[in-house]
Amino acid sequence: MNTHEFLKAIPKVSLHVHLMGSIQARTVVELAAKHGVKLPDFNEPEDLYQYPDIYKFLHMYDNSALAIQGRDDFARIAYETLSEAAAHNVRYREMSFNPTTHMAAGASYQTCVDGLIDGINAARNDHGIECRLIAAVNRMESPELAVAMVETLLENPREEVIGIGMDYAEAEFPPERFWKAYRMAEQAGLRLTAHQSEDAPPRNIETCLDLLGCERVDHGYHVVESEAIMRRVRDEGVVFTCTPVSTAWVYFGEDLSNHPIRMMKEFGIKLMIDCDDPPMFQTDPTKDYIVCAEHMGFSTEDFRNCMLNGIDGSFLDEPTKRTMRRQFATEFDALASQLSK
Ligand code: ADE
Ligand code: ZN
Repeated sequence: MNTHEFLKAIPKVSLHVHLMGSIQARTVVELAAKHGVKLPDFNEPEDLYQYPDIYKFLHMYDNSALAIQGRDDFARIAYETLSEAAAHNVRYREMSFNPTTHMAAGASYQTCVDGLIDGINAARNDHGIECRLIAAVNRMESPELAVAMVETLLENPREEVIGIGMDYAEAEFPPERFWKAYRMAEQAGLRLTAHQSEDAPPRNIETCLDLLGCERVDHGYHVVESEAIMRRVRDEGVVFTCTPVSTAWVYFGEDLSNHPIRMMKEFGIKLMIDCDDPPMFQTDPTKDYIVCAEHMGFSTEDFRNCMLNGIDGSFLDEPTKRTMRRQFATEFDALASQLSK
């Protein structure tokens, strides 16, 4: 078995993937035609997924949202991305979605969440993959809208929706604006995560841990600018969900070996690897692992650690985590023994 086959076959937990970033370009085009939504000009559907910066990328996100309207549309996009993930042996995913984006595009929260649950159930039936949902705050919107989003979640409880997150562009929208939404979610028993220090100083990581009460950090690359915070998160065992391919443009152009993920790993920070917005960045759950192996010196043992860190950082209950750790480690070791030297 070669390295690519090995990295595809190993069992995976996925904690950092966005629903809207997971839609195949072809599906966006079909759904836009179905609902009469005008998309930017393209020759091939994949042309829609090219952008020079995060703002243009997010603009495409919002464009796609206009094409996702009915419960069946939400079911379809969830089913398609989970089926693809299952082909890479992703067994459990905590997938984020942005309720306010879909509501602004004209779908009700109930249509959105129940459609996603339909897709999750169908993917479990057909491929055995499990998925839970994280409702993400769009940090470019107001703190009041984030509070309203949490109220909507609480008025429409679904057992699949287990927590809240925070995404969109960080540089001008610091985390402290959202303390109230996070406090409400925590009091209601929702689990907490947030994108921080993807595109802003490392102090946002401390705000996210200390003020918002986050249990893990999504991205977090600017941590390498503060040795004190690096030491703190390492010593506290905070799990970081890192996505090399989707953040390539920020850090290295063509030279992936400069990505801070490498230094974070070498320093001993607990991290796991995921694929963020797979079709929108021409990646998939295996390709992000391959990049780590080929450009950042990840060894077989590093991948084993990442796998176990993903389980630790998940919002599963402890007994489920224990069983999963044992099963995954056994499978991983059997595959590693077949890896050609
Ligand atoms: N999707 C929404 N916000 C994102 C972000 N900040 N990075 C990557 N994908 C995103
Ligand atoms: Zn992300």
